[in-house]
Amino acid sequence: MKLSQFGKQLSTDSGIVNLMEDLGDAINVNPNLLFMGGGNPARVPAFENIIAAKLRTIANQPELLHKLIGTYQSPRGSEELIAELVKFFREVCGWPVSEKNIALANGSQSAFFILLNMFADETAGKICFPLMPEYLGYSDQGTIANLAVACKPKITLLDDKVFKYQLDIDAVEAVDNVAAYCVSRPTNPSGNMLAEDEVLALCELAKKRNTHLLLDCAYGNPFPGVVYDAVESFWHEKLITVLSLSKLGLPGTRTGIVVGPEDVIDKFCQINTIVSLANGNLGPVLLTELLKSGELPNICEHIICAHYKAQRDFALQQVQEKFAHLPYKIHQAEGAFFIWLWFENLPISTQALYEKLKARAVLIMPGEHFFFGLENKDEWGHSRECIRLTYCQGQDVVEQALAIIAEVLEEVFTLGNNA
Ligand SMILES: Cc1ncc(COP(=O)(O)O)c(C=O)c1O
Repeated sequence: MKLSQFGKQLSTDSGIVNLMEDLGDAINVNPNLLFMGGGNPARVPAFENIIAAKLRTIANQPELLHKLIGTYQSPRGSEELIAELVKFFREVCGWPVSEKNIALANGSQSAFFILLNMFADETAGKICFPLMPEYLGYSDQGTIANLAVACKPKITLLDDKVFKYQLDIDAVEAVDNVAAYCVSRPTNPSGNMLAEDEVLALCELAKKRNTHLLLDCAYGNPFPGVVYDAVESFWHEKLITVLSLSKLGLPGTRTGIVVGPEDVIDKFCQINTIVSLANGNLGPVLLTELLKSGELPNICEHIICAHYKAQRDFALQQVQEKFAHLPYKIHQAEGAFFIWLWFENLPISTQALYEKLKARAVLIMPGEHFFFGLENKDEWGHSRECIRLTYCQGQDVVEQALAIIAEVLEEVFTLGNNA
């Protein structure tokens, strides 16, 4: 088959496609696998009950039902939802937005596809990821090769078992030819929360370079708010905030929200309409109901975040117990629903570790894929020594999986290169 540059670029082997294949296999085909891999949110019954009640109400009201299944949205997205979002962002977040600052998309992944390619190419420059490791779903989104340029973080040891990544702003400033900056907060995979001054430093750098900062808050604030200590959300003239309903518990609705400067939103809507014609209605209809009723902040804090916090605490306690004899360090788990473990001097690659665990019916995420766009990556051992585990599954799954992971790691450290 003869393929275009676009066809070749997007159809080669890709970390995110392998990840989604594993996820589909574990969730839909082979549920006996202990799934500590992908980014599916947890099943939270209290949240599903709220959504079930909303769906019943919609089904019983012909006008609402027709809006849900029988209409196309306009290019910017549901006017009713956008009006509710303007109110919410102004009143709850203090952002000076109007409806011209907001667009909807079919999931934040496709919003990023548009945003990254709308800014970067061979002449306009690259997307700079200021703090590796970063969400692997960005890494293959370029319609040109090598869209990404990335910076190593500073690694701060908080105690002998806990570390934290911090922005190396000098390294970020040294990168030229930047079309836009992009960072997730909290960060997938590490659960790191970029500090307020780090985000502001990136906004100011974006302003100085006359470009933008894409801030991916898929797990963060203002919703779904899977962040374990109080944090600010931001408004800045050069900031584009991308939100999603997925980690609230609605990945099946494929709903993303882009909030940013008017001129960016205009271009975004134009491209999104060419690519998608219109956005799906389910997420917007549900979110409109959650905003109108005023339930959303309470759901985020008391149902969603509370659920993940309990899961995180359980997973951390299990790691401490089961990994006590192993040379591990863990990233401070500040948000999202992952733990990020670092095994210094791991004798095999984390991809090889992944294969060994898969043979024992445990799926993890090897860390290698989250380090992209780096020069001399191979010289940085850290990029081959980390794994990501989700704590979305039931506590029995987390406990069993961590026991097997500890066993396999012990074997690997004992046998060294021969493992
Ligand atoms: C950091 C981050 N951003 C964006 C996405 C894409 O989410 P969605 O397309 O479901 O909104 C994900 C999914 O896992 C993610 O982890």
